[in-house]
Amino acid sequence: MGPDGVQFYDSATGAPRAAAFVPLTLREADMSLNGFDHYLIKEIHEQPRVLRRIAENYAEPVHHLAELISEAYGSFLIGCGTSSYAALTGSYLFSRIARRHVNFAVGSEFKYQEHFLTDRSLVIALSQSGETADIIDAVMAAKRAGARVAALVNVPGSTLDRLADFSIHLGAGPEQSVLSTKSYTAKVAILMLTAHVLNGSEHVGREHLWRAVDGVEQALAPASVQRIQEIAAYMADKEHCFVIGRGLSYPTALEAALKIKEISYIHAEGFAGGELKHGVIALVEEGTPCLVFSPIDETRDDILSGAMELRSRGGFIVGISPEPEEVFDIHLPVADVGDASPLVGVIPAQLLGYYLALRRGLDPDKPRNLAKSVTVK
Ligand code: M6R
Repeated sequence: MGPDGVQFYDSATGAPRAAAFVPLTLREADMSLNGFDHYLIKEIHEQPRVLRRIAENYAEPVHHLAELISEAYGSFLIGCGTSSYAALTGSYLFSRIARRHVNFAVGSEFKYQEHFLTDRSLVIALSQSGETADIIDAVMAAKRAGARVAALVNVPGSTLDRLADFSIHLGAGPEQSVLSTKSYTAKVAILMLTAHVLNGSEHVGREHLWRAVDGVEQALAPASVQRIQEIAAYMADKEHCFVIGRGLSYPTALEAALKIKEISYIHAEGFAGGELKHGVIALVEEGTPCLVFSPIDETRDDILSGAMELRSRGGFIVGISPEPEEVFDIHLPVADVGDASPLVGVIPAQLLGYYLALRRGLDPDKPRNLAKSVTVK
C-alpha cells in the first residue's frame, strides 16, 4: 500500500501487475441462514431455484461444451467426492443420450491414467470450490500434455476457474455447508443438457429439466419431508445401510450413501444393484435399511428383483420411485422426469442425511474430520 493506493506485484518475478476489480453480486440472503436452522437444509431447499436458472439461461455455455466434446479425441470427466458422482452420472448420460463415450475418473486417481492424454484430449473437471488439490493436480497434468480443459465450477475466480480454457459457472450461490448438495444437482443438470445438445435433442433435455424443477419442489414439500423424518426415526439407531441403483441411478446410489454417511456417521454403502450377489448381500440382516432407486427406465425390472433379494434376507426396503411396488416397505414417491431422474432421486437422500444427523444429535453443518474444500493431497 503506497500513497497512490494498493499496488499488486507478481510474487514470482516482482513485476507490477494490474488488478481487475470484480464487484460482488452476493445478496444478504445468499450468505445468511435466511430463516433456516442450518446451511445444509437451506441449500437443499435452494435447488429448485438453481435448476430453474440453468433451464432458463445456460444455452450458450452448454452448446460450447458440446462443441468441445465433439472436437475432442477422447474426453474425460473428473471430480472428487460428490463431484465425482456428478461426473460418473455425466458419463452415463453421454452414453445413454448422446451415444458418446466420455471416460470417467476419480480426480485423485487421474494421474495414474493420464498416459492417454494428448493435445486432442478434453478434460472436463468438476468442482464446487475449484480448489480441490487432487483436481488442480490432474488439470495441471492435462495441461502439460497439451489437452484442453473445461471446468464446471461454482466459485468464479477459483484456481480451477483460472486454469481452465473454458469454464461454466454453476451459479448455485455460496455453498456453506460442508456437504455438497445444490452444486451437485447443478452439475448434473448441465451435463444432462449438454448430452441432449450433442444428440440434437436440446428441447427434450430442457423439458426433462423443467419437469425435474417441479419434481424437486415436490420432493421438498412438507408431506415428503414428513415421510423422510419417519424413516430417519427408524434408521437413527442402525449401524449399516445399503443403497442400490442401476444405470443412471448407480451414481445416485453412491451419492446418496455419501450424504448419509458423512453427516450421520451411519455406515452407508452404495453399489450397483447387479453386484448384490457378488458379496454385499452377505451383510444384510433382519431390519437392515436398504434404499432402492427405481425410476421408470430400463433398469426397473432388474432393480426390483435386487430389492426382492434384499427383502428375502430381512432387508427393510425404502423404495425411491415414481410408482409404489409390493417389495417396498416404505415408498418415497418421486416424479417421473425421464433422463433427469438423478436430480429428483438424490433429494430424499439429502434430506435423510440431514434428519438423521438431527436425530442423532449431530451438527449437520460441521461433520467431524471433514473440510469444505480439500486443498491438501
Ligand atoms: O469442491 P469440490 O467439488 O471439488 O469438492 C469435492 C469433495 O471434497 C466434496 O464433494 C466432498 O465429497 C463433500 N463433502 C461432499 O458432500
